[in-house]
Amino acid sequence: MSTTLVTGGTVVNATGTAQADVLVDGETIAAVLAPGSRLLGTDLKATVDQVVDATGRYVIPGGIDAHTHMQMPFGGTEASDTFETGTRAAAWGGTTSIIDFAIQRYGERVEDGLAAWHEKAAGQCAVDYGFHQIVGGVDEFSLKAMDSLVDEGITSFKLFMAYPGVFYSDDAQILRAMQKSRETGLLTMMHAENGPAIDVLAEQLYNAGKTTPFFHGIARAWQLEEEATHRAIMLADLTGAPLYVVHVSAKQAVEQLAAARDRGQNVFGETCPQYLYLSLEDQLGATSEEWGDLEGAKWVCSTPLRSRADGHQDAMWRALRTNDLQTVSTDHCPFCMKGQKDMGAGDFRAIPNGIGSIEHRVDLLYQGVVTGEITLSRWVELISTTPARMFGLYGRKGVVQPGADADLVVYDPAGHTSIGLGKSHHMNMDYSAWEGYEIDGHVDWVMSRGSVLVDESGYVGSKTHGKFLKRDLTQYLV
Ligand code: URP
Ligand code: ZN
Ligand code: ZN
Repeated sequence: MSTTLVTGGTVVNATGTAQADVLVDGETIAAVLAPGSRLLGTDLKATVDQVVDATGRYVIPGGIDAHTHMQMPFGGTEASDTFETGTRAAAWGGTTSIIDFAIQRYGERVEDGLAAWHEKAAGQCAVDYGFHQIVGGVDEFSLKAMDSLVDEGITSFKLFMAYPGVFYSDDAQILRAMQKSRETGLLTMMHAENGPAIDVLAEQLYNAGKTTPFFHGIARAWQLEEEATHRAIMLADLTGAPLYVVHVSAKQAVEQLAAARDRGQNVFGETCPQYLYLSLEDQLGATSEEWGDLEGAKWVCSTPLRSRADGHQDAMWRALRTNDLQTVSTDHCPFCMKGQKDMGAGDFRAIPNGIGSIEHRVDLLYQGVVTGEITLSRWVELISTTPARMFGLYGRKGVVQPGADADLVVYDPAGHTSIGLGKSHHMNMDYSAWEGYEIDGHVDWVMSRGSVLVDESGYVGSKTHGKFLKRDLTQYLV
């Protein structure tokens, strides 16, 4: 077992910052010490196997991306990052744990879906990984199977109010699944968009010749996100289920969540970097020599990008400050333009939904510290600590403290990161949704359970390092 001393840095936790050295012994943090501490009279630097000089830099707990879709079958194709490529990109960007979604569809067994995801991920991950369970067909069999999920370390499941005929659950199914959530402690995660109404609008737009990617966002109107969010909240209230609404993009949906929380309801919201930075207006004007007006397909995701003129992005940042939203995950679901997104040329409905950001979440959120949107500690809380608490990993993950896994990132606030193809881009995509973004900060060094994944020479990890995370129940049960 090797020992490491990360010395001279500013340790940033959700609770505050301190000048401290971090001693790592094997896979865990052994001590967080006053700078230059000695042990039994001995200079620690002289006794450890390696010393990492973090002077002038932040030492933070590894990022936890609680919403990813590696190799997800979607829209007649499959998300382009494998567990190997996606988790390697995660490591590059300072994320040391992911929670991906195992899938069960109507007519399939939950147990089989989960087993298939274990099969895909085992031995392929650079960072630790857990699973949520997508329940795409709520029936007596899947409800029964949900009883054993907690024992398997799968303590959350996702339902879809969107995508009729694919993953969609109607209100009766949602009610039953939420009753199960209340009974077992499983956290209900909800894709809150009114899918049947969206499909009608999308068809009408298409028939009217409005076929470019921009109309994806018009069909998925904010009213249909607000309505579904409200409905999910009401069903959760009725059943007593804890509720976590994923990829929130509409300010009106945030208002629904905030109002429910103010009433004392146990509901939470997640947003994603794309809803903080990108907008429907960007998509409207998008065109390129290579892709023409299909260019906007690069940013087709669901929920969709929202109008900047209507203030959705500002509202997301505000909600992160006020804790009306609690986490920022990526919803990493990458597709290439060539052979995947281009399936939707001439029909926005056929563009596979998803954006790839796993490599950039820590940086993009740090940019919010630079611009004064959030504090340093809130940054750490959003990217690591709250996801750990929300999804039953806290103590092991999400904090720099003795006994925790040695998942550490040395982040240089004076560094710089240029995002884009040929720059920092290690995701398996032929474009970057973040091309041209410049970040005032840099992930310099990454450690996962005592093993260095990224140092000044680049990625030095291995695809067999990542372990399956058997998760506890959310800390937010009441
Ligand atoms: O566009 C998205 N979000 N694709 C992934 C599937 C989902 O709904 O999370
Ligand atoms: Zn979703
Ligand atoms: Zn998703």
